[in-house]
Amino acid sequence: MCGIVGYTGHESAASVLLAGLRRLEYRGYDSTGIASLHDGRLHLRKLAGRVRRLEEALAESPIPGACGIGHTRWATHGPPSDINAHPHLGGEGEVAVVHNGVIENHDALRAELSADGFTFQSQTDTEVIAHLIARELRLLRDPQIPRADLLLNAVLRALPRLEGTYGLAILHRDSPGLIVAARQGSPLVVGVGEHEHLLASDATAIAPHTRQVVFLEDGEVVRLTPDSLQIAHVNRGPVTPRIDRIDWAPDAAELGPHDHYMQKEIREQPETLRNACRGRLRRDQATAVLGGLNLTPRQVRHIRRIVFAACGTSWHAALVGEYLIERLARLPVEVEYASEFRYRNPPLDDRTLVFVLSQSGETADTLGALHEAKRRGFPTRAIVNTVGSSIARAADGGIYLHAGPEIGVASTKAFSAQVAVLALLALYFGRIRGLPFVDGLAALEALEFAPEAMAQALQTEPLVRDAASRFQSTRSALFLGRDLLYPVALEGALKLKEISYIHAEGYPTAEMKHGPIALIDPETPTVFVAPRGPLHAKTLSNIAEVKARGGPILAVGTQGDAELQRLADVFLPVPDVPELIQPLVAVAPLQLLAYHVARLRGCDIDKPRNLAKSVTVE
Ligand code: M6R
Repeated sequence: MCGIVGYTGHESAASVLLAGLRRLEYRGYDSTGIASLHDGRLHLRKLAGRVRRLEEALAESPIPGACGIGHTRWATHGPPSDINAHPHLGGEGEVAVVHNGVIENHDALRAELSADGFTFQSQTDTEVIAHLIARELRLLRDPQIPRADLLLNAVLRALPRLEGTYGLAILHRDSPGLIVAARQGSPLVVGVGEHEHLLASDATAIAPHTRQVVFLEDGEVVRLTPDSLQIAHVNRGPVTPRIDRIDWAPDAAELGPHDHYMQKEIREQPETLRNACRGRLRRDQATAVLGGLNLTPRQVRHIRRIVFAACGTSWHAALVGEYLIERLARLPVEVEYASEFRYRNPPLDDRTLVFVLSQSGETADTLGALHEAKRRGFPTRAIVNTVGSSIARAADGGIYLHAGPEIGVASTKAFSAQVAVLALLALYFGRIRGLPFVDGLAALEALEFAPEAMAQALQTEPLVRDAASRFQSTRSALFLGRDLLYPVALEGALKLKEISYIHAEGYPTAEMKHGPIALIDPETPTVFVAPRGPLHAKTLSNIAEVKARGGPILAVGTQGDAELQRLADVFLPVPDVPELIQPLVAVAPLQLLAYHVARLRGCDIDKPRNLAKSVTVE
């Protein structure tokens, strides 16, 4: 979704902003623009389309200045167009604003400002913010206020008028070298450099410049010049900035020798699993160590129910978590769509622990679910990848995935890291709640083997590449799995539809005969996620049923499973591993399948149509 970047320092603002915008492209957007400030003038370039077009426009007609703001827009109010692209100017061009989020009372404000003589160019909700600040600047012609504080004061007076969510960055024609930024419900991070400050909605954009960052909280406003950084809370006054360090190398977000981020991230999974488990396995006690959870063993024993709330791929991972925790810890688990949990007012009791799962830590529905649980006084925990994200900071404790930045819109390595972390959680809860040492040790050893098992599963790639051609002109596919592999079937279907635009549905295998079997025909492939397990014989019967109806069959199965191989048209063998880590080895060929099908179909793999990496609107 929308991205913000800002720079004030000694380099060309346009170059720094362009580099930042390029690093934000993965979030999904439809238009882009920058504004710089130089010699008492605001210089603006903005257009619909990709950052590459903006770069060309700037090469033809450069803009000067060492202070500026930039934006990638994902249209909400008004279609993608040059006019609707950010930055937006306020007043008679004295203010430039970029904005992430949604202003809910923009209609009323637009009417009020129009009546006051302000003229609107765009259909966006953002333009009202620009005019609102310009109006406050005019009203603030108070000689008592030092010129350098004018913009900050105008912003502080304008913000209470806004209803909704925002991450804002603002320039004022008469405030050289100054950026004022504000956050309410939409993330912002400040980068601290040598005689320079940066600003971004996502640390990825500024990581090459600096790894020293300050995460802003809701309600905070920041005033940035090359040599100063001041933060104030709108109600509580000055705030002492807390400098954090980005814990991943900036080149972790680079494509390197890979063709797509999705491909890179699929291949990174053995390392992702290693990082997710590093330092968290305790062999002498056959358990996991999860310090950030902030739960004593006594508190764990007190829990009677767990509710997971998440969206998309994170929801699928949570479903694996349900099976794992119920099995190892004998604790009832419910998995909710975050968007439903938030509004349907589910009955919870004092012994319920609410977990939210999110790769980005910024998904609006998931953040909303977390706030709702907190509002009702329930203890909350989060499983998150992005350090310092809104969800990570709002929860009462949690577990980081340590998967590094995930850039491809289709989530891959975050899924496997989530599954690994959920297995750790199941082991930890299980060992407190009666799981025998020997079973704990078996789970621990399975997790230790997971990186190697994933590396072996990824070796299916040449076979998957061949299989992909069978899907190239498919219109619809079924993905079936049971028990722990049912969520993997859902995830395989989601991956295929997201990036190749082929309709795909996931079901528990045995559900097939209750409806989906009607879809089976020679044009509709069925993907069985079928590594060996206690119910394998039943799965083989289901496969035979599809075969009898002429449906093509692709099976992901245990290496050496001759019976499965005989039944399937395409057999993708994965290593023979304990059930606990079967979801990890089984998902790898499905991710690769989606990737190669999308590639054959010429789809934009890392930026699939209509999708955004981090869905920060409801
Ligand atoms: O960042 P989150 O994990 O909260 O994101 C949740 C979903 O938006 C996300 O998983 C989405 O479904 C992905 N595009 C899946 O590939």
